[in-house]
Amino acid sequence: MSPANRSGIGKLPAESTSFVGRRRLLAEVKAAFANTRLLTLVGPGGVGKTRLALRAAADLRRTVHDGAWFIDLAGQEDPHLVPKAVITGMGLADKSGQWPTSLLVTHLASREALLVLDNCEHLLDAVAVLADVVLKEAAGVRLLATSPS
Ligand SMILES: Nc1ncnc2c1ncn2[C@@H]1O[C@H](COP(=O)(O)OP(=O)(O)O)[C@@H](O)[C@H]1O
Ligand SMILES: [Mg+2]
Repeated sequence: MSPANRSGIGKLPAESTSFVGRRRLLAEVKAAFANTRLLTLVGPGGVGKTRLALRAAADLRRTVHDGAWFIDLAGQEDPHLVPKAVITGMGLADKSGQWPTSLLVTHLASREALLVLDNCEHLLDAVAVLADVVLKEAAGVRLLATSPS
């Protein structure tokens, strides 16, 4: 997975095939962030949630000063490790001995960022708890989550 940092800070995987259609849906996702800071894309596997989230994030990253970040939670089995997975995905070194959630919130508190949390299905409670803290403590952060219906 190569970082696609051509325009803006952050880390999104490059799209390896061209993005087809979905113009209206893409516009809706982007427009939704004018009114909310947390959006979840829900739908059956294979319907295109990850691609839509990635494309929306790529388009929106110019609007967030500290960039758009993609965190794939698919391989994460332990809900307790969700905050750590997010800080690792954002390249935040965990040297301080701080709790991952504290480290994340401290880092994000004064920043503007879009975090894509892909494949949240098996971790919904843990992601909801983390999202709650982040949205409260980091006013400039927006979250785009995906989960199957
Ligand atoms: N708009 C699109 N244009 C091109 N390919 C797409 C598009 N949406 C999905 N795909 C392709 O279809 C497959 C499934 O899409 P994906 O986003 O992974 O679905 P989901 O995350 O809902 O399981 C992937 O190979 C993806 O690249
Ligand atoms: Mg997916």
